[in-house]
Parts: sequence; C-alpha cells; structure tokens
Amino acid sequence: MLSLTLQKIKQDMFQEKNQILWNKKIGPSYYRIGIKCHRGYSDAQPGQFIMLGFGDQTAPLLRRPFSIHRLVTTDSHGQGVEILYKIVGTCTKKLSFYKKGDIIGVLGPLGSHFLIPDTIGRIFMVAGGVGIAPMVFLASSLQKKGVDLSKCMVFNGGRSKDDLLCGDHFFTLGMSVNTTTDDGSAGKKGFVTDIVSAAIKEHRPDMIYACGPTPMLKAVTQMTEIYAVPCQVSIETMMACGMGACLGCAVESRKDSDRYFHACADGPVFNASILKI
Ligand SMILES: Cc1cc2nc3c(=O)[nH]c(=O)nc-3n(C[C@H](O)[C@H](O)[C@H](O)COP(=O)(O)OP(=O)(O)OC[C@H]3O[C@@H](n4cnc5c(N)ncnc54)[C@H](O)[C@@H]3O)c2cc1C
Ligand code: FES
Repeated sequence: MLSLTLQKIKQDMFQEKNQILWNKKIGPSYYRIGIKCHRGYSDAQPGQFIMLGFGDQTAPLLRRPFSIHRLVTTDSHGQGVEILYKIVGTCTKKLSFYKKGDIIGVLGPLGSHFLIPDTIGRIFMVAGGVGIAPMVFLASSLQKKGVDLSKCMVFNGGRSKDDLLCGDHFFTLGMSVNTTTDDGSAGKKGFVTDIVSAAIKEHRPDMIYACGPTPMLKAVTQMTEIYAVPCQVSIETMMACGMGACLGCAVESRKDSDRYFHACADGPVFNASILKI
C-alpha cells in the first residue's frame, strides 16, 4: 500500500507558482488562505499536504508543509486548495501578509492520505489544535462516500477557546462535536484524550482518525490498542524537502527498530500500529 501511494505522488505532484485567492483572519493567530492550483488537485485526498515556498531574501529558503483543509472548485476561482494555518514562526507570519492576487510557490499534493473502508459505521475524528485542518476535508470525503455523518463524532482539543476551530462546520454536517481546552475557557477542562477514552468504551467506533501533536497521537494510539479499534494518525513531524529526499522527517518503525519511515513520503498518514511515537 505504501509503495503504491509513493508512486502516485511522483506521478501527480505539481511544482507551481500560484495565485492567492483569499487570506482571511479567522482568530487571533489563525487564517484561512485559498490558493489557485493545477486542475490535477481535484484528485487530492484528505490527509495530503502541500509545501509552500517562502524563498526570498527576507525569509528562509525551506518550504513549509500544510495539510489541505478544503478543495476549492468554484466557477469564479477554478481549481484550488484552502489551507487553515496558525502563526507560529517566521514563515507563517510571512504567510499572513499575503494578499489576494499575490504569488506563492506550491509543491503538491504530497504524501499519503486517510483511507476510508468501503463499509464503515461509527467514526471518531480526534484533533488537537491545528490538527483539525485535514479533518474538514476528510468529513467532506466521508459525506461524498455516503457515510452516515450523524454517527461520526469529532473530539477537538485546544489550549484555549481561541484554538477550537471548525466546530460549526462539523455540527452543520450533522456530526457531534466534543471539545476540551487546557485552560477550561471552553468545553471540558483537560486534554482531548481524556474524553476520547470514555467515548471509545461507550460507542465502540469502527475507525479513529487522529491529527495533532505527537503526545496526543501517542495517547490515542495507546487507547485504540487497548480497545482494539483501528486507528490512522497524521503526524506533524518537521519537514525540509517534503518528498523523501533529505531524510529530515524520519520516524521509527515499531516492529523493526532499524527501519525508519519518511513522514513526508510514506506518511503523513499512517496506520497507528506501525509507528513508534
Ligand atoms: C504534514 C504536516 C501538515 C501540517 N499542516 C498544518 C496545517 O494545516 N496548518 C498549520 O498551521 N500548520 C501545519 N503544519 C505545521 C506547519 O508546517 C508549521 O507550523 C510551519 O512549518 C511553521 O513554520 P514557521 O516558519 O512559521 O515556524 P518556525 O519558525 O519554523 O518554527 C516556529 C516554532 O514552531 C515549531 N514547529 C515548526 N514546525 C513544526 C511542526 N511541524 N511540528 C511541531 N512544531 C513545529 C518550531 O520548532 C518552532 O518552535 C503541518 C506540518 C506537517 C508536517
Ligand atoms: S522532509 Fe525530506 S525526506 Fe521527508
């Protein structure tokens, strides 16, 4: 499966200079940016990412990875992608200054994607912080596949209420949304994994999709193993090239300590059971 995915990446990857369609602030540190892309992006899948290039004299040359939040397919904008991002450092700060019509370097779509079994009942999506970004794309794919979203539950954790995003979107799709914050400013106080554990026992999901910081993914992986629930995780390992060339994103295999995966090319979505995280 992994090698098939890798081959597809090489065939369908585009390196382009693309136009910004919009760049909207949606919270104190969060933005949504729409970017025009090659029509081949209509085949992109949830969990895949793009690398945005910021190479000029004022910013580092390395590209930065961002999950595809939504596909854009409108008459007025043509084909594109939307990214949901948080300002954390140099490049994301720079990204927030881009305006409609500006040009940015885009490489993608890259990486593996969430797999949706042909028959699936109850689904849990577990997201920490900006890990919610690919879940919006995933929900739309599930809907297109005819999955009953009223049986799907979203578990979203953030540091504070400003870090809880997209809740209304999932709610409108008929999904139940359960939130936690570290500081108790919204939802239940505590970590998102605290509420996932109880929900697994009560609802026995057929699949868990998770994206967020490594400690959260580790906790989710452990509990899915205790309850024997299949789990796919999207990992946010730092990346330099984004396409398997630099070895900068190595993640250890659980079964074979001499084996490493490339988070960018073999992932970022993995079956949780194969990773040592
Ligand atoms: C596959 C993948 C998908 C991603 N999707 C999104 C997304 O949809 N939206 C979004 O906002 N961000 C996403 N990220 C994280 C995003 O790539 C980083 O926030 C970005 O590269 C930071 O660049 P910067 O120059 O602004 O920050 P830097 O100046 O490079 O770093 C600022 C701080 O953030 C830390 N940091 C940087 N990258 C990461 C990382 N990957 N994990 C943990 N800490 C990091 C650094 O250690 C440093 O402390 C994703 C990362 C990966 C690997
Ligand atoms: S980021 Fe270069 S190999 Fe993955």
